[in-house]
Amino acid sequence: MALPSPILCLAIETSCDDSSVAVVDSTGFVHKQLSADQNSAHEPFGGVVPEVASRNHTKNVLPLIDEVLKDLNLKPQDLTGIAVTNRPGLVGSLLVGLVTVKTLSLSWDLPFVGVNHLEGHILAPWLRDHTYNPQQLEDSLPALVLAVSGGHTQLYYVEEYGKYHVLGHSIDDAAGEALDKFAKELGLGFPGGAQLDKWARLGDASKYHFSQGLLHKGLDFSFSGTKASAMRLLQSLGPEQVESSIKDLCASYEKSVVDVLLVKLKRALDAHPQVKTIAVTGGVSANTYLRQSAEALAQNLEKNILIPPLRYCTDNAAMIGFAGAKKILQGQYDEQSLAPSASSQAEDFIW
Ligand code: KG4
Ligand code: ZN
Repeated sequence: MALPSPILCLAIETSCDDSSVAVVDSTGFVHKQLSADQNSAHEPFGGVVPEVASRNHTKNVLPLIDEVLKDLNLKPQDLTGIAVTNRPGLVGSLLVGLVTVKTLSLSWDLPFVGVNHLEGHILAPWLRDHTYNPQQLEDSLPALVLAVSGGHTQLYYVEEYGKYHVLGHSIDDAAGEALDKFAKELGLGFPGGAQLDKWARLGDASKYHFSQGLLHKGLDFSFSGTKASAMRLLQSLGPEQVESSIKDLCASYEKSVVDVLLVKLKRALDAHPQVKTIAVTGGVSANTYLRQSAEALAQNLEKNILIPPLRYCTDNAAMIGFAGAKKILQGQYDEQSLAPSASSQAEDFIW
């Protein structure tokens, strides 16, 4: 029997260090989302510690679920299903969300579905709420989606819902990781990308030059050389000069990383001129220079551009709920045997 559309889905995301819970419907409308970041727990280590992340998820997830349902005055029987990120990510972190959802599925007698975290990021630009109302997904396709976060840098051609062609991906570090490592070396705090953005706004981006891997070649990305050239420069400058040049260093390094993203985006658009919409998503899309430059590129090429608000750019449950609600609407459910996985499944994307 066909389900009445739209359906309401509870969603849980715990793939890295953000615990997030949302209720979303199958049109992408976000009824409520609550998240708990763990920045203060990981800051002393300068990066995410997997065991600490899982332990914090176990503390965060149930209270977040209670609060979201209470705020919306919803009972389990008002929901049609539950969506949960089960891949790719930190296995211990994924396990917390997955075990929670399996238990709720049994006790509430609701179906659940595992979602690929990256499919969530791809669909995030088409989430909607009372203050963000983009064009519908179906009217925006085909689209190019640049997903840039601390863990991923990918360029997708979205032909239709469920058909995601990988045009390019990072062969080493993610763009966000390259920004965070540099920021850490400068002592800017954790996660450093946002701090680096602030300093970069005050500096001269033409002052220093860093290596830009694969700039002239194809659609894959490589940032390990950029990071290594930056470490060499910092060593050669010495602590005092680094301290006094921090603004120019941040501006120049940010430009080296972001310009590669833009060159690849432009190259992908040249190869796929039929694309109607460009979308930039993932935590790094918060970056001021990236947002401004991607918007300018889209304007020049007369394409629509979607860069969702930060609550849908960084890791969030709403994007998982949207993907999951669409699957449940199509009758795709998972069994209690579903396992977490550090990597995507071969059939998740078209290579
Ligand atoms: O999507 P996200 O929240 O988590 C991952 O899946 O990684 O992305 C986090 C990344 C971090 O690398 C963080 O430094 C970066 O997004 N980020 C930024 C900015 N805000 C967050 N990078 C550059 N400029 C920003 N304003
Ligand atoms: Zn992510």
